[in-house]
Amino acid sequence: MISLTNTSVIFLSALLLVLSLGKRSLGSPLPGLVAYWGQSSDDDEFTLDQMCWMYSTVNIGFLDKFGGGQEPELNLGKHCTQDCCTKLSRQITRCQRMGVKVFISLGSDGNYTLTSKEDAKKVADYIWMAFLGGNDYGLTFRPLGNAVLDGVDLYIKKSPKNDPTRDFWHELTASLKEHDDPEGKRVYVSASPQCPYPDPYLDRAINNGSVDYVWPRFFNNPSCQYGDDGDQSKLLATYTLWTRSVPSTVQAVAVGIPASRDQAPEGGYMESSIVRDDICTTVYTNALYGGIMLYSFNGLELYPFAKTLEVSGECIAKRQGIVSSSM
Ligand SMILES: *[C@@H]1O[C@H](CO)[C@@H](O)[C@H](O)[C@H]1NC(C)=O
Ligand SMILES: *[C@@H]1O[C@H](CO)[C@@H](O)[C@H](O)[C@H]1NC(C)=O
Repeated sequence: MISLTNTSVIFLSALLLVLSLGKRSLGSPLPGLVAYWGQSSDDDEFTLDQMCWMYSTVNIGFLDKFGGGQEPELNLGKHCTQDCCTKLSRQITRCQRMGVKVFISLGSDGNYTLTSKEDAKKVADYIWMAFLGGNDYGLTFRPLGNAVLDGVDLYIKKSPKNDPTRDFWHELTASLKEHDDPEGKRVYVSASPQCPYPDPYLDRAINNGSVDYVWPRFFNNPSCQYGDDGDQSKLLATYTLWTRSVPSTVQAVAVGIPASRDQAPEGGYMESSIVRDDICTTVYTNALYGGIMLYSFNGLELYPFAKTLEVSGECIAKRQGIVSSSM
């Protein structure tokens, strides 16, 4: 009898999961569960290829320094430093083989800016050459090695006061989207705005027609999050507002929630059973429903949270429905 290592068990579970979900579209990253990865350590959130299998999309975060003539910099917590992250190439490819889309996520807390249309174009060119299908400058230019990522996520958290970046995100996304080949290798663009609609930074990009998926963050935003008192109405009403307001170029809107309490000092955290039993059962009827985005870099909390949702028809049910109607 062959003894199974932990890794084989994980891969076997992944295979069974994929089979049990039926024919999963290889063309679209959504709907399903979306996760972020990259801000802690292999011990705390597992390696990318250990964690990715339960999700339709994993955003590697973050490229948190770029623009304004700065040398772009990847910040992947304790997983690796800028010059040793090429080891992730193989893990990315493994996740992709399991049907998981892998995006590079830009933003969060770093020192980033876009100072002009030309600057945005420069950053887009960099991303194309460093993470996507462009390879003009060779491997030494690619922090994650040869693996070609599936898309780019904008996790624009905050910008300095009067930051002009808000005028240029659409230049960046439009530039990236020029590389999208619907007949061949896709370049997806997703945006993770704060939940109050519209988002001051990402609104132009979303309305530019160059954003495919939106996962607003329904946390740390008291006006549109799940209340401490169990009130779901603000979250649900704002989710509906987003789905009604985005242009038809947006394929799906996912519900962004924290999968651990420490991600939500200003509120919005709810137990996974509430998401499964109350939130998913309501939002899944929305034609633009694109699944649940889980925000946490704590694997010990993220995993059981995702596990609870994975067994729920509604949380992932439209996986096939949307794909066949929009792709
Ligand atoms: C952020 O970037 C700007 C522009 O390059 C630079 O002047 C500033 O010193 C940077 N700040 C930090 C904290 O790195
Ligand atoms: C999106 O932005 C690009 C870059 O500025 C522009 O060329 C394009 O016309 C815009 N598209 C829409 C639909 O606004």
